[in-house]
Amino acid sequence: MTDHEYMRYALELAKRGVGAVNPNPLVGAVIVKDDEIIGEGWHERFGELHAERNALKNCKKSAKGATLYVTLEPCCHYGKTPPCTEAIIENQIKRVVVGSMDTNPKVAGKGVALLREAGIEVETGVLKEECDALNEVFFHYIETKTPFVVMKYAMTMDGKIATASGKSKWITGETARENVQKDRNRYMAIMVGVGTVLTDNPSLTCRIAGGRNPIRIICDTNLRTPLESILVQTAKEVKTIIATASRDMEMRHTYEEKGVFILDVPKKEGHLDLEFLMKELGNHGIDSVLLEGGGTLNFSALQSKIVNKVQAYIAPKIFGGEAAKTPVEGVGIAEVPEHFHLKNPKIRQYGEDFYIESEVEYSCLPE
Ligand SMILES: NC(=O)c1ccc[n+]([C@@H]2O[C@H](COP(=O)([O-])OP(=O)(O)OC[C@H]3O[C@@H](n4cnc5c(N)ncnc54)[C@H](OP(=O)(O)O)[C@@H]3O)[C@@H](O)[C@H]2O)c1
Repeated sequence: MTDHEYMRYALELAKRGVGAVNPNPLVGAVIVKDDEIIGEGWHERFGELHAERNALKNCKKSAKGATLYVTLEPCCHYGKTPPCTEAIIENQIKRVVVGSMDTNPKVAGKGVALLREAGIEVETGVLKEECDALNEVFFHYIETKTPFVVMKYAMTMDGKIATASGKSKWITGETARENVQKDRNRYMAIMVGVGTVLTDNPSLTCRIAGGRNPIRIICDTNLRTPLESILVQTAKEVKTIIATASRDMEMRHTYEEKGVFILDVPKKEGHLDLEFLMKELGNHGIDSVLLEGGGTLNFSALQSKIVNKVQAYIAPKIFGGEAAKTPVEGVGIAEVPEHFHLKNPKIRQYGEDFYIESEVEYSCLPE
């Protein structure tokens, strides 16, 4: 097998940590000697062993003289576990092949430098693009200390996210909805506006077997979330945050008694200041948010420049209706050059539905 093939396998291993390692990176490692895989591992759970140490632990023979393939630069600092560079040197690995370089300031090239100083041959940038993409959340969070925000919506071919009477179950088919469930497991939190809670009364849980529920966040400036809503009623089982600017202490206390965590966010132009909210969520260790709001919150989120990626599921259905909601509403823009620009589109098909994913490029927007 070639370096690329071993790295691709390490990438597959890394993906097994999805939903369990946040806010740590997804990392996979493979140890190869005489063209035979003698050890493999991945970062399985936050706070537990890193991929390199797991691979070394699982080695069926001595790793002396072997090559280690690892999707992310090995760490060289003491965190929840000792540095991986130490273990690599101690085990007398001869060659290390790295996918992504770690942008965490505590590592940032120092891991590779340490290995080279110890006489280990190091090659970097193998399948770099794929390895970088795997950890887009980690890199964003470590660099900005704010969550990576993915705006997701499901719409009909005429661009409606609900019927004129507000019904949205279901726009897409089962396969597309299964993929959304995977993302609810992948991203640490899920966020909606109070408008979606009032119309849909959603549960916002992850319904895949063995999956992990995201932390649920409701943007609710004036505490309009119904006490009898599913989100409030299940707040003791699934962590639920209401972000609010309300100082109604009695009402806040009532939510808190039901298990809801109240997060203070100041107002900006009549609603919540989303930029402030993202900083607060980042301070609480939340590295990613799946934004499943309605058009009102979605427009504000784009305007506040907090959205990193847009996921549009497009169903072969037409709803029509002037009053039917669309994915992004608010006041919109007046001139075409003011548009929110999206780049690097990826298109997939889930059953009968299409899926387009793009990154948001704010640098194109005029100030
Ligand atoms: N098909 C889909 O993918 C999908 C997904 C979600 C929703 N929907 C549909 O969308 C409809 C609901 O739309 P919606 O626009 O009312 O829901 P929304 O965007 O989820 O909620 C809007 C509310 O969020 C609150 N909010 C708090 N901070 C905000 C901020 N900074 N900017 C904007 N709003 C903020 C506002 O009320 P306060 O200021 O009073 O707090 C606002 O009225 C429903 O029919 C639902 O079925 C469809």
